[in-house]
Amino acid sequence: MRERMRLPMGLRLRPWESSDVLAVREAFAEPVMERQADVPITTLADAESWVQTRQEQWRRQVAYSFAVVDGSDTALGGVTVSNLHDEHATGWVSYWTAFAARGRSVATHGCRALADWCFTDLGLFRLELGHRTNNPASCRVAQGAGFAAEGIQRQKLVYDGIRYDVEMHARLATDPRPGPV
Ligand SMILES: CC(C)(COP(=O)(O)OP(=O)(O)OC[C@H]1O[C@@H](n2cnc3c(N)ncnc32)[C@H](O)[C@@H]1OP(=O)(O)O)[C@@H](O)C(=O)NCCC(=O)NCCS
Repeated sequence: MRERMRLPMGLRLRPWESSDVLAVREAFAEPVMERQADVPITTLADAESWVQTRQEQWRRQVAYSFAVVDGSDTALGGVTVSNLHDEHATGWVSYWTAFAARGRSVATHGCRALADWCFTDLGLFRLELGHRTNNPASCRVAQGAGFAAEGIQRQKLVYDGIRYDVEMHARLATDPRPGPV
């Protein structure tokens, strides 16, 4: 199973490393990122624990989380496949990009490479993801990575007392590869 992949624009995917702790803490300091983590990440120790959890999940083969890094090996974002279901060969994809690196196709390239890896190295057949309908950037990432929209789950999530619709997307191993970014 490959652990490192070269992407366009000098980007690479690799597993999270202890050297990423500072970048992780900075990325999760943004309020909009709070919901991308299962526990709050405010200190370096929190970030270190987050990285260790990703490494542990990889060892246990329950989820595979990659850093998307630039040419100087700085983590700009993350892409993950989790909720792996062996019988049906499915997985759930998620992604984020650090605020300073947004709008440079980091998430789109990362998500494309993750999908290719899931189909080839993990042998998955169907990858799913969902985004709140008020998150158009995430929708564009899904589309750019070849995940077709499959419908709205009405008022699926509740944050701060407000319910949100979620749009589901999926990509199959047999779907056409997406065109150039
Ligand atoms: C969503 C997110 C991952 C996008 O990351 P990114 O690296 O900036 O994404 P990319 O540069 O690959 O692509 C962004 C696309 O969204 C578009 N976009 C960006 N902001 C947008 C907005 N407010 N409205 C509409 N489209 C927007 C860009 O133009 C681009 O579209 P294109 O492919 O047609 O050019 C990033 O904003 C993020 O991390 N947000 C917080 C966490 C999050 O929401 N994760 C997804 C949860 S489902």
